[in-house]
Amino acid sequence: MSEQEVRTRACPDGPLLVRGATEWPGPDGEAVAVTRPVVAVCRCERSQRLPWCDGTHRFLAPGAAVRQG
Ligand code: FES
Repeated sequence: MSEQEVRTRACPDGPLLVRGATEWPGPDGEAVAVTRPVVAVCRCERSQRLPWCDGTHRFLAPGAAVRQG
């Protein structure tokens, strides 16, 4: 098994872009397999495809989309 560096970058009022992960915690806490080099993880918790961003954050007021902390 090889270790791969995981990098993240938060998009303003949008998702967390995650590069290099092989799994990510789902809404129920169980690991969800990551099958792409980069995935967008929802930070507003309103996506219909959690843990992934589905674009719903675009319809929220600026600053309301992303949970702080
Ligand atoms: S951050 Fe995009 S739907 Fe939540």
